[in-house]
Amino acid sequence: MTPFKIALFGDIVGKPGIKLMREALPAFVEREGIDFVVANGENLAGGAGTTPDTARSMFAAGVDVLTNGDHVFRRRADFAKIADDERVVRPANLPPRADGHGWTVIETDDGLRVGVVNAIGRVFMDPADCPFRAVDHAVRKLERDADVVVVDFHAEASSEKMAMGWHLDGRVAAVVGTHTHTPTADAQILDRGTAYVSDLGMVGAYDGIIGRTKERVLHRFTTGMPTPFTLAEGALRGPGVVVTIDDVRGLAIEVEPVLLGDPPRTRRRADLPGDDAER
Ligand SMILES: [Fe+2]
Ligand SMILES: [Fe+2]
Repeated sequence: MTPFKIALFGDIVGKPGIKLMREALPAFVEREGIDFVVANGENLAGGAGTTPDTARSMFAAGVDVLTNGDHVFRRRADFAKIADDERVVRPANLPPRADGHGWTVIETDDGLRVGVVNAIGRVFMDPADCPFRAVDHAVRKLERDADVVVVDFHAEASSEKMAMGWHLDGRVAAVVGTHTHTPTADAQILDRGTAYVSDLGMVGAYDGIIGRTKERVLHRFTTGMPTPFTLAEGALRGPGVVVTIDDVRGLAIEVEPVLLGDPPRTRRRADLPGDDAER
């Protein structure tokens, strides 16, 4: 058995997210001995959608597979150009005639076949086919074609994501949640050896509201009026998990939360207006 390490990151949001991945991922992969990287690309292009250029820049930074979500067709013509790329997946429970594919298998340099499945939730989200049935179908197909399988379940409700974790426990190496852009502190190994976390959180600028400029989002919430959103700036952060996998059984041995970029502020800022230093 050779332990195999997969790093998984959530929604990469626009230029700030791309910048952090390009600056921090190569050194992280080297330092931690990461064998494979999965990240969610649904917000790569200006905050919504994926383009060939943004996808390419992530592959160059060390991402092996880009998953997707509800924003997959926001730049439909651009997505069409990469829809057949084996390194790009979109939710498997979209209509079968939609562009792209719901799972993929990538063979590493060491000959290990890594399967990546993407599905989208139905709670507080647009209608989609049953994600549980869709992953069952994909996992059955991958039983023979892949040695290790990981699943990105792109969903709003933590309950639906936890249900997916338990649904797949013992059948895949990892089930990770994406979409909320907010990391959860519940990374764990379930009873039968599946690594699980409800949401990886986004890779991007955290001095905002899920990656958007906070003033704009606040304006919409407090006035109820339509407000065009722009991308947040400031502290760049990319939480994720590293899953160490037993490549014989294809199940997780260990899951570790990790962080690219700046940690969150946990003490009040030194220059808070009204502080002694300011008087
Ligand atoms: Fe997203
Ligand atoms: Fe999403």
